[in-house]
Amino acid sequence: MGRKFVVGGNWKMNGDKKQILEILQNLKISTDTEVILGVPALYIEYVISNLPPNVQVAAQNCYKVPNGAFTGEISPAMIKDVGAKWVILGHSERRNIFNETDVLVAEKVAHALESGLKVIACIGEKLEEREAGKTEEVVFRQTKAIVEKIKPKDWSNVVLAYEPVWAIGTGKTATPAQAQEVHQALRKWLKETVSPEVAESTRIQYGGSVTGANAKELAAQPDIDGFLVGGASLKPEFAIIINAKQ
Ligand code: G3P
Repeated sequence: MGRKFVVGGNWKMNGDKKQILEILQNLKISTDTEVILGVPALYIEYVISNLPPNVQVAAQNCYKVPNGAFTGEISPAMIKDVGAKWVILGHSERRNIFNETDVLVAEKVAHALESGLKVIACIGEKLEEREAGKTEEVVFRQTKAIVEKIKPKDWSNVVLAYEPVWAIGTGKTATPAQAQEVHQALRKWLKETVSPEVAESTRIQYGGSVTGANAKELAAQPDIDGFLVGGASLKPEFAIIINAKQ
């Protein structure tokens, strides 16, 4: 059984109601790609009320408990309550700007799964880590923290997003060979650390300056099962990226 191609759009802290409607009206999906839009929490219900068919919605973050004295935070229960089924967790901006540790990310992933959400869990090395030859060490460490907090059966509701930090928002996309090398290593690591079944079925997205121009070549790599797209997800070329696996 093949892994269904899955493309996420991460709008980050961008968009307003006018732009959102334009994006949603441009979203023409002509393949069976699974499409998940990661939208600012304030707009989740608005997006859901204007959603084209076959498109799902994700929050871009959540906390690790159902409720409580955590000013400004949102919980998986609230995300479900407004109709979203996914949450993006561990994005490098959460890790590097808001100082989220591997353990905190893993605890968030575990609680989101326990709450019935599906998770796009982000990992990825910084430029200096890649230049020091530590790419696999970093992504295995980040993924290990998640493995230690969730059950093997939970992996059916997890999509991994490998996003080299040096490719995010820089226009410096990983080459197909660079991306495939890490995806293949991650899948081998999952096979050895969790199980052959989880390794085979877990979808691994690539993220980092994906565009309509480079998506097809990246999508042709055997261990690239989709994309997590930032800037281009706000543009009409997002439809090209969604259909890159045709
Ligand atoms: O989560 C996806 C994002 O980090 C990638 O951003 O703008 O390089 O596609 P971008």
